[in-house]
Amino acid sequence: MADKRRILTGITTTGTPHLGNYVGAIRPAIAASRRADVESFYFLADYHALIKCGDPARVQQSTLEIAATWLACGLDPDKVFFYRQSDIPEIPELTWLLTCVTAKGLLNRAHAYKAAVDQNVAAGEDADAGITAGLYMYPVLMAADILIFNAHEVPVGRDQIQHLEMARDVGQRFNHLYAEHLAVNGAAFTLPEARIEENVATLPGTDGRKMSKSYDNTIPLWLSAKELKKAILGIVTDSRAPGEPKEADASNVFALYQAFASAEQTAAMRQAFADGIGWGEAKQALFACVDAELAQPRARYEALIAKPEVIEERLLAGAAKARARCAPLIEKLRWAVGVRKLTDRAAPMRASAVAAVSALPQIKSYRETDGKFYFKLTDGDGAVLLQSRAFDAPKDVGRLSAALIDAGDDATALAGLLEQSTPPGTVLSVETIRAALGRLKAAKDREK
Ligand code: TRP
Repeated sequence: MADKRRILTGITTTGTPHLGNYVGAIRPAIAASRRADVESFYFLADYHALIKCGDPARVQQSTLEIAATWLACGLDPDKVFFYRQSDIPEIPELTWLLTCVTAKGLLNRAHAYKAAVDQNVAAGEDADAGITAGLYMYPVLMAADILIFNAHEVPVGRDQIQHLEMARDVGQRFNHLYAEHLAVNGAAFTLPEARIEENVATLPGTDGRKMSKSYDNTIPLWLSAKELKKAILGIVTDSRAPGEPKEADASNVFALYQAFASAEQTAAMRQAFADGIGWGEAKQALFACVDAELAQPRARYEALIAKPEVIEERLLAGAAKARARCAPLIEKLRWAVGVRKLTDRAAPMRASAVAAVSALPQIKSYRETDGKFYFKLTDGDGAVLLQSRAFDAPKDVGRLSAALIDAGDDATALAGLLEQSTPPGTVLSVETIRAALGRLKAAKDREK
């Protein structure tokens, strides 16, 4: 059977979780972690936190709060990999191996770094004033987080797409530069895909703009029921009086309600808005709905946060499990780059390994336990370049994969075919895919 898909998410430990984090990230991720057909990796990115936060107490407190939050919301550490980045020494180790193959120019183009430079220039300062090498290297550390577990998929917001492209870029470069040495031990990085959650609502904050720490408009997730009610009653609305019809889709109260209510409740509330429900009444209903969902997790959260030693132990157990998974890979990578025992002479390459390096890309179709049909395009070194969406009929898989090979490296022909092949929102390395299909088509043409 095909490898389970590995889905990986990192959470930077600088803040206190709020309702926007819960609806946009935590709740969907925990739901996804219950799927039997995937392996989920969730980690606390405390090394990333150091890049933007110089307050040690805050980094520690945030790590505690975020760990307790995920556990309180139902993450089962026995079913997933749940760990703290700094407990995995293989991650900084891989960061260095990747750093040594990363083009400096690639990092120059990172949005976050460029924005900081632009700000300096606009202020008449030296271009790199106040910019740490940590900020500059951020994308490489993130690539190591992802590549160390050969993750297939990384659910991210739009602001992180570039980081995913960089992770692919760096992984691919490493695969390429060390191809023949990696092949000796059958190692290669899987190139990760960004999964953009299109249908997860971004929650508005108390002032109607997107709920975000930087706008200071958040509702913290773990307020007491009383504080939560107060925060909800304080949401800014227009001044329409009870009895005046209100537009549901323009209202932040309605948007928040929708994020917590069932479809029936939401439909009823939409009608109530049209009928002129008063803001006070609508906010009371919103509070009741949010509190109903959060009351139980809140009790669990409070019990957990009072026992940091229990959380610490869970995290250490999670790290042991995660390290057992990534240790063999780092071993192979060290060997591949030449960080080896002096007595360990390079074995002559086995014929099969040589063949693997020069092997052609492949399209394989298969059926999953969900009964659906899939195909994937892999590079000669086994790296997955394209993973299809689910199809009901095998003939659709056959038709599409034949059309892809037929299109070869024709970008125009490929664009539409790739869109049909993958779930909406998939970010692909189109250039790599084009190159692989081009080789495949050329080989097929030679056979004819
Ligand atoms: N950069 C991510 C953010 O700010 C956090 C993060 C660090 C991450 N490493 C990661 C996310 C690896 C996904 C995968 O949201």
